[in-house]
Amino acid sequence: MEIQDSIKNLKNEADKEIGAAMDQKSLEEIRIKYLGKKGILTQILHSIGEMPQDKRPQAGLLANAIKGEIALLYRKKLEELIPGTVGICTLTDLTLPGRKMTAGRFHPLSLISDEILQIFKRLGFNVVDGREIETEYYNFEALNTPEDHPARDLQDTFYITRDILLRTHTSPVQIRVMENSKPPIRIVSSGKCYRRDASDATHSPTFHQIEGLMVDKGVTFAHLKGILSSFLVQLFGVNTVVRFTPSYFPFTEPSVEVSIGCWICKRKGCHICGNGYLEILGAGMVDPNVFKYVKYDSKKYSGFAFGMGIERIAMLKYGIEDIRLFLENDIRFLKQF
Ligand code: DAH
Repeated sequence: MEIQDSIKNLKNEADKEIGAAMDQKSLEEIRIKYLGKKGILTQILHSIGEMPQDKRPQAGLLANAIKGEIALLYRKKLEELIPGTVGICTLTDLTLPGRKMTAGRFHPLSLISDEILQIFKRLGFNVVDGREIETEYYNFEALNTPEDHPARDLQDTFYITRDILLRTHTSPVQIRVMENSKPPIRIVSSGKCYRRDASDATHSPTFHQIEGLMVDKGVTFAHLKGILSSFLVQLFGVNTVVRFTPSYFPFTEPSVEVSIGCWICKRKGCHICGNGYLEILGAGMVDPNVFKYVKYDSKKYSGFAFGMGIERIAMLKYGIEDIRLFLENDIRFLKQF
């Protein structure tokens, strides 16, 4: 019989004997027989030195592996006979492959939000927090949104009481900041908003926005254009085409919609953008009526504000086609970021 075969047989024999051992003493005898200083395996390992050179490495590996396996069988049996003597740690099979540790990651919305806030911090803006539960006054009235404005519709807003609601946008942060501080103001704020929208590929009843506000003496529309263009180029790349078009928001006058040239179709028009441009922000010069609510003198101060949806930007940047993926917490989706 080849030495390889006899080594393998040895393990079967030892297995049988160990299995049959009834007490610690007989188990110890088996250990000495196979693993002891003069035991069978020790002898085999010695005799390998006399084998032909080319057979030695393989036989050595095999004998050592079998020795390890018999030692493990012995320790398992010992633990079985006298629990606690060996302990779980020493029963660990060190030859098993390691367990793979997967690192945690940030949610794609956190990544985009952090990136945007970081850009505005570099432009001199401070990051502030707002409240998700707001009053009608901060969410609408002080933002110059009249009672008959469609945004106030019961269908769009989650009301908690007649006066308390879940904010429908991050704009109330503007009012709270202006109430509590004097110009110069340069703030951004990121957070959750809520609207009574039925959930589909592009709508979700909870979503995220980032709001911005700059107020000082002599702030003009040129500042708005400069800051927002710089922001969009930093976020979407140096070749980004930025477009400002007239729009309407109750709290700004004039108001603009800020879009970037669609990089997918190169502004030719495609199924993502429609007309060659992707709308990213709403913005405008703070309406003097809003300044009245926070007791700012609109002859002395002027400012601009802007707001954007984070989901939309993340969807465009990462090519995500369904907004619901952000809330489902499917590891296969989240793993990609
Ligand atoms: N609050 C607006 C919305 O939810 C976005 C917005 C538009 C915010 C213009 C602003 C702004 O601060 O100036 O659609």
